[in-house]
Amino acid sequence: MPTATSSGDSSSSPVAGSWCSVSGVEDGPAAPVLRSERLLLEPLKVGHAEEMAPLLADPGLYAFTGASPVTLDELRRRYERQVRGHSEDGHQRWLNWIVRLEQTGAPVGAVQATMTAHSDGLAADLAWLIAVPHQRRGYATEAATVLARWLREQGAQVLAANIHPRHEASMHVARALGMTPTDEVIDGEIRWATAPTQSRHGASFGAESRSCRKP
Ligand SMILES: CC(C)(COP(=O)(O)OP(=O)(O)OC[C@H]1O[C@@H](n2cnc3c(N)ncnc32)[C@H](O)[C@@H]1OP(=O)(O)O)[C@@H](O)C(=O)NCCC(=O)NCCS
Repeated sequence: MPTATSSGDSSSSPVAGSWCSVSGVEDGPAAPVLRSERLLLEPLKVGHAEEMAPLLADPGLYAFTGASPVTLDELRRRYERQVRGHSEDGHQRWLNWIVRLEQTGAPVGAVQATMTAHSDGLAADLAWLIAVPHQRRGYATEAATVLARWLREQGAQVLAANIHPRHEASMHVARALGMTPTDEVIDGEIRWATAPTQSRHGASFGAESRSCRKP
């Protein structure tokens, strides 16, 4: 998975610590099935490791994220962590989907969202990955757009992603979601974010607001 969010994988979490968080998001919504014109976003299951492992074995996927291909066993263990759905301290809600073509059911990638409650509202950090043979067909933009819509419906007031400064494709996706680059640099990646919106739900997930320091 790209390293734009933690979403259960603390080994690839440039976002961790970038926002001050408060507890109380672990009882947030479970990932639902999401659909777009061409894609089906299916909530992650450990059993997806078998069909995702060959897609994630391509070193070309990791040019900008610093991650590397994983074995099937490593992927299974990663998915076992991710399907727990929240960090141990309850500060982060982890939501993971695999992306399938609606027409054939073939898996083509994955998307993640890590939701965190902050003193100033609920934020979602996103990550997207499309397997090399399926890239440049608009799938990342389409999957991220449907995910962003759902996250906003859940009360997310800020959507963000950490992106390598030369990762043009990922910057395109971020722009399509309305994100712009911020001044924040995390492990050499630029933090992109949407302007905060007043969600119709406010900071949901029962999050308790608390003052906290910026990094
Ligand atoms: C980033 C990634 C998800 C994009 O997937 P994709 O399905 O090819 O993206 P899209 O087809 O939706 O293209 C998005 C935009 O980027 C552009 N683009 C795609 N690949 C590009 C490339 N290699 N160079 C420059 N622009 C590129 C497209 O033209 C499109 O632009 P548009 O919105 O103006 O039409 C994919 O490259 C990937 O999985 N990379 C590895 C994982 C990764 O780095 N994830 C991001 C972590 S933040």
